Amino acid sequence: MRTLISNIKILAQTEAADSNKDKVLGLEMDTLPCLNDAYLVINKGIIESYGPMNALPAEQFDKTIDATGRCVIPTYIDSHTHLVHAASREEEFVMRIQGISYEEIAKRGGGILNSAKKMASISENELYDISVPKLEEAIANGTGAIEIKSGYGLSTQAELKMLRVIRRLKESSNIPIKASFLAAHAYPLAYKDNHQGYLDLIINEMLPQVADEGLADYVDAFCEQGFFSVDETEQIIEAGAKYGLKAKIHANQLHNSGGIQLGVKHHALSVDHLESLGEAEVACLQESNTLPVLLPGAAFFLAMNYQPARMLIDANLPVVIASDYNPGSCPSSNMNFMMSLACTQLKMTPKEAINSVTLNGAAALELQHELGSIQVGKRAHLILTKQIPSLEYIPYHYAHNIIERVIIS
Ligand code: NIG
Ligand code: FE
Repeated sequence: MRTLISNIKILAQTEAADSNKDKVLGLEMDTLPCLNDAYLVINKGIIESYGPMNALPAEQFDKTIDATGRCVIPTYIDSHTHLVHAASREEEFVMRIQGISYEEIAKRGGGILNSAKKMASISENELYDISVPKLEEAIANGTGAIEIKSGYGLSTQAELKMLRVIRRLKESSNIPIKASFLAAHAYPLAYKDNHQGYLDLIINEMLPQVADEGLADYVDAFCEQGFFSVDETEQIIEAGAKYGLKAKIHANQLHNSGGIQLGVKHHALSVDHLESLGEAEVACLQESNTLPVLLPGAAFFLAMNYQPARMLIDANLPVVIASDYNPGSCPSSNMNFMMSLACTQLKMTPKEAINSVTLNGAAALELQHELGSIQVGKRAHLILTKQIPSLEYIPYHYAHNIIERVIIS
């Protein structure tokens, strides 16, 4: 089956067939290779060719999509989510409006522990059934590959339940999904005063089973005051490494926790959140391949300080934007909205924002050789926009749907 998309107003994030770009560094991020008035041919789900309309070969295609007035960009890669969760937490949203902080709610047994309570009683089948429409909604909003974490189980049984649901989503979905094992998300009440006991449970009981069933691609921990200290997080990262799991860790969300330095020390694939950082952390990232993943949706929803994206871009770092979709700090998986926040709040340009959610997002999931740009041979995961005047219009027209159609292969 060969499909032609013709008359594309702007085909964005094109990459030459012989290029091997695996991420876009800070100062290059304001450049976005584009082709105006273009065509693109998809053959069996793969980008076969593209070029200017005046060079369109006179051939027959099985199907033609006329994209007059519309743009085509690669789908977004959402490299940080907690999409699998048992229930929403709007009661905490109301508490925060009344002035109780996210940290205080967590201390009172809300937050992650609240989600864990709900996770304990839901069946695997039910959890799968409620997760499918969440994934479909993310895809409809332009996400073409996604990472999903465990971390609301906090017991061997419930963590495995979450990871098995993620595996079923991987098997049933037509987009790539990566799973991160995040048992080190919060200390369960029973281990409140016995941190080492819970760490031992993760390391000696959970991880071997997770590895045995091949349930995780990465290991994660919430490195934060009141959650997992640097030393505790290090135990988790080292244990994951023994099973070949690279780290993607939550770092520096609420405090300058030392998580960035720890992630870099262990060659983490990414350090995520990064609301609180300074020059030392930036310098540390500059010396590494660890990707900074910023989650503006969480800062927005918790009304906290935004991540210093400009500082990172000016330091020539490859900034990634992801959603952090979860029931507590960001109940939205809409990557268009994350891009709008990146522009309005993090002061990124629309081109920087597009780079941060396409090629750089792909790099944060090690998918940069199959997704993230319009390159011959890559998977045809594409967003066809509605009729819009420019690419800048995508983050500008915030909270509206600019997508006409999402093409997955
Ligand atoms: O990335 N920061 C830790 N974990 C999640 C949210 C957890 C929750 O509140 O459910 C996050 O924001
Ligand atoms: Fe998160």
